[in-house]
Amino acid sequence: MLKDLVLGDDMLSLSINGGATAGFDYFWLRDNARDPESFDSRSHQRELYTAAIDPMIRPKAARLSDDGAALILDWPDLAIEAHYEAGFLAEFSTAGNPMQMPPATPWDAASLDPDAVRLSCAGLTGNEGVTPLLKALLAHGFAVLTDCPRDLSSVQAVADSIGYVRQTIFGGLFEFEANEDMADSAYTPKELRPHTDGTYSHDAPGVQILLCVSYDAKGGESIMVDGARIAAALKADQPQVHDDLARIGVTGIYKGDGAVLRARRPILRYDDSGVLAQVSFNNYDRDTVRLADDDMRALYAGIRAFDGLANDPAMQWRYTLKPGDMLVFDNWRVLHGRGAFSGRRKMAGAYINREDFESSVRSNGLI
Ligand SMILES: [Fe+2]
Repeated sequence: MLKDLVLGDDMLSLSINGGATAGFDYFWLRDNARDPESFDSRSHQRELYTAAIDPMIRPKAARLSDDGAALILDWPDLAIEAHYEAGFLAEFSTAGNPMQMPPATPWDAASLDPDAVRLSCAGLTGNEGVTPLLKALLAHGFAVLTDCPRDLSSVQAVADSIGYVRQTIFGGLFEFEANEDMADSAYTPKELRPHTDGTYSHDAPGVQILLCVSYDAKGGESIMVDGARIAAALKADQPQVHDDLARIGVTGIYKGDGAVLRARRPILRYDDSGVLAQVSFNNYDRDTVRLADDDMRALYAGIRAFDGLANDPAMQWRYTLKPGDMLVFDNWRVLHGRGAFSGRRKMAGAYINREDFESSVRSNGLI
């Protein structure tokens, strides 16, 4: 319900649904008019040529609809009146961040409920579909899907339920077995310290899927660590280290298979509204770089502190995947690692782009 419409010098103001008075800039209202000449509601694209609009534009007339559900403006350059629904005005009554995802609740070993991250693979085809998996990814940054078919088809199905399989220099769907002959750290039976994948990519994989296909081994526990929890701990206990890790760019590199991929960002990347947007930490893939001496020392102190927390059992979820267990995790938040093992262990997996994960969260109504 709209009322108390006032046309000021620079802005129009009105009260929305009984709340405080909200002001709207005239040019913003013209730019965001939803009439068919200004906006194509089918493609959701702006038809208006914004740069050609008079910067001082004002409506010729303004009124509220009889039922108070809409603001109606008559613009000098439009043949028809433009209607602004109360819900639309309420949504944009203050500055907002359209990129905001649901807030994460950082966890550690003591606060994580292990049952909360276990879901049945078969549930994905139930009434709720992919929603419980997305909710687990948003809340905890990971989930274990149990009793999945032990082949690439289940990896494909889970990837398709969120987005689609990302193509990389490694291909799409992948399978690997511990093998001393392979160059990459992922193939070794040695311990893999917690890390994120794709620090050498400008757009690191958003979600990673890892399915245990077969396990005839000793050891090899999977490790998950909440990067958001590490960031919170550093901010509280070592603010200077935290700020250095949020400032100093770290370069990741992948060199091999005819590719030289390189990308740089801070280990803790905050967005322009101060929200932790991405955690990137992979000491294996960190490039040899000479920074200014002060920054180099600050970065080494930061790596020491970050790696210490990531390898503290009090921060870790540890679990030995059984054949048919599928780990699905947010690679922009959670670090993954694996204990040393002896024997044979075969895994399959895939990556999903971050934007497709976020799209799935939105299209399933979770934000
Ligand atoms: Fe990895």
